[in-house]
Amino acid sequence: MVQYNIRGGNSLSGTIDISGAKNAAVAILPAALLAAGVCRIENIPKVSDVTLILEIMRELGAEVRLVKKNTLLIDSSNVKRDSQAPYELVRRMRASYYVMGAFLSRFGCAQVSMPGGCDFGVRPIDQHIKGFEALGAKVTVQAGLIHAEVPNGRLTGTQIFLDFASVGATINIMLAATLADGVTVIENAAREPHIVDLANFLNSMGADVKGAGTDIIKIRGVKCLNGSVYAIIPDQIEAGTYMTAVASAGGRVKINNVIPKHLECITAKLTEMGVEIEELDDALIVSRSHPLRRTNVKALPYPGFPTDMQPQIAACLCSAHGTSMVTEGVWDNRFRYIDELKRMGAKIQVDGRLAVIEGVETGLTGAPVQACDLRAGAALVVAALGASGQTKIGGIHHIERGYEDIIEKLSNVGAKICRKEISEADAIPATIS
Ligand code: EPU
Repeated sequence: MVQYNIRGGNSLSGTIDISGAKNAAVAILPAALLAAGVCRIENIPKVSDVTLILEIMRELGAEVRLVKKNTLLIDSSNVKRDSQAPYELVRRMRASYYVMGAFLSRFGCAQVSMPGGCDFGVRPIDQHIKGFEALGAKVTVQAGLIHAEVPNGRLTGTQIFLDFASVGATINIMLAATLADGVTVIENAAREPHIVDLANFLNSMGADVKGAGTDIIKIRGVKCLNGSVYAIIPDQIEAGTYMTAVASAGGRVKINNVIPKHLECITAKLTEMGVEIEELDDALIVSRSHPLRRTNVKALPYPGFPTDMQPQIAACLCSAHGTSMVTEGVWDNRFRYIDELKRMGAKIQVDGRLAVIEGVETGLTGAPVQACDLRAGAALVVAALGASGQTKIGGIHHIERGYEDIIEKLSNVGAKICRKEISEADAIPATIS
């Protein structure tokens, strides 16, 4: 077993380079299943969720070749209509269901196990299914398998109004509609940066997708897609996480390779809290030399404050002056990490989707804690960097699903962090709820 040991209280100084966006990569890689030619995809983050989606694609018959650390060639010409990814792989990640949209579009049929992913309570996929059915597929869910098939082999464009702006449903419907007959209009579509990135990738292969980044996306189906060369955008959430790391530990760090526009909502909140942020063309300089101030945060779909940054900013607010309110507006159950922050001395009351955080002005203290999901783990790292003493974080496989080289990146700016092999007997026990 492996854990992170972090000795907090060191201010951070230097430069961090941001990797490609994980949530864009896990949509763009399956989108390469649509192409008749070879795709060269650059700036792919080396994280375990990406490794997993690539394993799934290989099982489906795609040829995947690493040409550089973050660049892959993908050839999907040998992918067969009846290929199926093993349950053991699919259940381990949410984004495996993007194979469904890609297969339906290319072959008119798809069969995928119900997906897994972080546990934030119930995670239905009714909006995806509603979209596939509107495009003419017959969808059945039986014995943990989702089966979708179009009677005449080709989907037909239509208008789809999502009940809410689901990121996953928007992506899956975009994939499905790309090779459909006619025009598909997705209304109340999600607007996250990775939706725009996927649209740009699809268009680079010859698709006709317009309006991504607004709440109405129009997809005119084309007959076939070609290979292309494409570089994935920088990771908004990874950048935001390092911004909160500086807020928590103090210091001055240049965060390179970012799109400042994508970070505006995070920049605005951290500025309210007393963090100084200087915006350059593709970098931010983040510094914090005074104690943090309280604020209120509501996690919402883009362009609101990202739910995937809610735990990390809450970790900073634990040692701010005053009482803050953090509201989760996307997921039912995204406060499971709070019990772990309490082990470090945080004073937090949770009521449904609201957390009231009373800042502990003397700061948090290191403790053994357990990551229960990806961003929960990131929040514990952020908290530990600002805490006094040593924090040992277990469950780090969650963190490594989404953060490339986190130990190296933080060590390079002066954090005292290491990854340590431990025996099962020494492992940190999970909180029993
Ligand atoms: N929902 C439904 N029905 C659906 C789809 C979603 O009820 O058919 C509900 C969900 O239960 C949730 C809300 O709608 O309450 C939002 O879900 P959404 O579909 O937008 O999320 P997702 O596509 O499953 C992606 C990211 C998550 C991120 C959310 C929200 C990926 C692979 N995952 O999930 O990222 O939290 O959007 O922005 O893109 C992470 O990176 O740590 C992460 C969890």
